[in-house]
Amino acid sequence: MTVRYSAPGRINLIGEHTDYNAGFALPIALPQRTFVSFDPSPSGALSVSSSLGDGPVEIGLDTVPGEVTGWAAYVAGVVWALLNAGVAVPGGTMTITSEIEIGSGLSSSAALECAVLGALLTALGVDLDRVEQAHLAQQAENEYVGAPTGLLDQLASLFGEPGQAMLIDFRDVTVQPVRFDPEASGVALLLIDSRARHAHAGGEYAARRASCERAAADLGVASLREVSDASALGAVSDPVDARRARHVLTENQRVLDCVAEMSSSDFAAVGELWTASHASMRDDFEITTPHLDLIAATAVRAGALGARMTGGGFGGCVIALVPRERVDAVSEAVSRATSDAGYPDPVITRTHAGGGAGQATSA
Ligand code: GLA
Repeated sequence: MTVRYSAPGRINLIGEHTDYNAGFALPIALPQRTFVSFDPSPSGALSVSSSLGDGPVEIGLDTVPGEVTGWAAYVAGVVWALLNAGVAVPGGTMTITSEIEIGSGLSSSAALECAVLGALLTALGVDLDRVEQAHLAQQAENEYVGAPTGLLDQLASLFGEPGQAMLIDFRDVTVQPVRFDPEASGVALLLIDSRARHAHAGGEYAARRASCERAAADLGVASLREVSDASALGAVSDPVDARRARHVLTENQRVLDCVAEMSSSDFAAVGELWTASHASMRDDFEITTPHLDLIAATAVRAGALGARMTGGGFGGCVIALVPRERVDAVSEAVSRATSDAGYPDPVITRTHAGGGAGQATSA
């Protein structure tokens, strides 16, 4: 029996680098997905081919970190994490196709992990709570692939619902649906892919995480979530760490403000929060690039209600909320500005919140 499973990428609407600080974030699932087709067989290995790269790659069912690299490491990581959790994975043949570009900041990696995990669990007939699935997929990424990322992407991929954003509280790991349908108010969600690529296994992501941990340690708290007021940050010894922590504190508040404004469909106010979030990522957290700053600033100047980089940073995508009648003007302004500055042509699409991981698919 062939098992077919798929999982979406995500756009984080707001709440960046808050997940590993026990804070808040507000992602949506993307309509674009990663598809897995799995034929279990009694063979002692998993043979995986993918549209993501060369293949097939053979993965031993007792694989250990370091053995498999590249895109297949995410698959091997899931096999390893399941085995660690006491679930023996069957061998067989797996085929992967994806609509999400690697390194675009849209969580191609979490989509891959969650789709593989769902396919394997379905083949085994094992029913696992979605929060537990998110933890397993994160373990694959942290410990097998070696990228020290938080839980945002996996939760978004697993819990997504059409027309809904998810308010995630990472302190107690709860996910609450929040209606997000700007088109119903005449506002488009534009996804602007800069086509500059990033890699989180690189040092900058880990450096930000370490800064936040040092700031929390200086303040004698387990996480920055426990700091209620930015005025307390004077006690952080390193001024750079203090600025990084200020981003996290102000970003948590912006997530909650954004949810409040969305409940009254005030997308002008939501847009202002996005623009403020971008400024905080640019000035305090320093994870944007001049390329992404140009895209976000140009979008706002051309009539967007707000714009911000989404995802881990250093490349990837900008999102903008744009009144329907301004979509063409904003798209043209962004294309012109990036071309004038010598950057690649951005790919601009109008998007919306899609559904989460599941069996019902078509590749
Ligand atoms: C990447 C990580 C997430 C999160 C974001 C930033 O996408 O995988 O865990 O930290 O960056 O918000």
